[in-house]
Amino acid sequence: MEQPDFIEVDDTPGDKNASQLEHGISISTGTENEERTYHTLNEGKYMLPNDEVCKATRSNLVAKAEKAKSLDGSDGHQRSDLQHRVITYALDDKLQLAPIPDSFSGNVLDLGTGSGIWATEFASRYPSSTVLGIDLSPTNPSFIPQNCSFRIEDYEEEWKHSAPFSFIHGRALISCLKNPPQTFATAYQNLAPGGWLEIQDIIWPFKSQDESLAEKGKPLLQWCEQAQAGSAKLGRPFADVSRYAAMMEEVGFVNVKQRTLKIPLNDWPKDRRMKELGALFLENMLDAVVALKKIWTFALGYSSEDADAFMGEVRSAVRNREVHAYFDFNIVYGQKPDEVQS
Ligand SMILES: C[S@@+](CC[C@H](N)C(=O)[O-])C[C@H]1O[C@@H](n2cnc3c(N)ncnc32)[C@H](O)[C@@H]1O
Repeated sequence: MEQPDFIEVDDTPGDKNASQLEHGISISTGTENEERTYHTLNEGKYMLPNDEVCKATRSNLVAKAEKAKSLDGSDGHQRSDLQHRVITYALDDKLQLAPIPDSFSGNVLDLGTGSGIWATEFASRYPSSTVLGIDLSPTNPSFIPQNCSFRIEDYEEEWKHSAPFSFIHGRALISCLKNPPQTFATAYQNLAPGGWLEIQDIIWPFKSQDESLAEKGKPLLQWCEQAQAGSAKLGRPFADVSRYAAMMEEVGFVNVKQRTLKIPLNDWPKDRRMKELGALFLENMLDAVVALKKIWTFALGYSSEDADAFMGEVRSAVRNREVHAYFDFNIVYGQKPDEVQS
């Protein structure tokens, strides 16, 4: 997706809240942490819940994502995860930027696979590949291609895979890598010569090109700061994603490339594609604000009621079209050198 350096604001008069509000999903901010479920392998490593509330919300979101996609005239390829839709939409429907040939037949590892949507799609697109998705929580997608499998595994523990990989992928792991260079080094050791590592993630925090975030989106700014501080307190500091390319080079990767995409928080931009991207992300963001409640109650000492009230303010700021917020989404990939010929 070609992106403008400066995102122009849509200043057409109208409701200052993004339209998804009226037609949108209703996500209760009152869900107690205690009623939600979390992964059990190496408990406490990942702070988002893995329960049915999330799954139900997600499927609701997917319906909206599909609707948004049809605005673009694309085909109706099945999707099962909104965040995946946002990112692949921004990437012109690509799953990766690493130069993987159409005939690719290597072993692939998806770190922190989540719902498994990236892994199953990759396996479908590259039927000669063999894809393994690993996560702390079980992954049970409705459709699993024959060349795809899932395992409950902690990638921060010793890797015991029998064969090397040709491609290792990780996405949206900003709070899930305690020591990114160490994980990149482990990936390097487990790649075949010539194999690729690709990491796609958000660069924290959100920002705006003008003063609108500081002036009209204060709760959102505060949320960004507190999410970062609280996550660190829980032992899961946000990684400095902007340094990933340099870290990969330090580990020994070559041909390291980086691309950064801007993703708006709601449909405030004038450009049609950017507007659609923001509208899609809005739904994801409203869900994320609620799902991260644990940070405020467990790490920052908020009562459940206070956390809910704060989240209400944050969600209003997220929906406010006068807040021209966006974030940088970073895609970094690098190659393990081919064996030196003697
Ligand atoms: C935000 S989700 C991203 C899911 C997926 N990569 C995507 O982009 O759709 C992060 C996932 O990483 C998993 N995770 C976190 N730490 C992990 C670890 N040490 N080992 C394996 N999985 C981990 C979490 O359980 C969660 O499913």
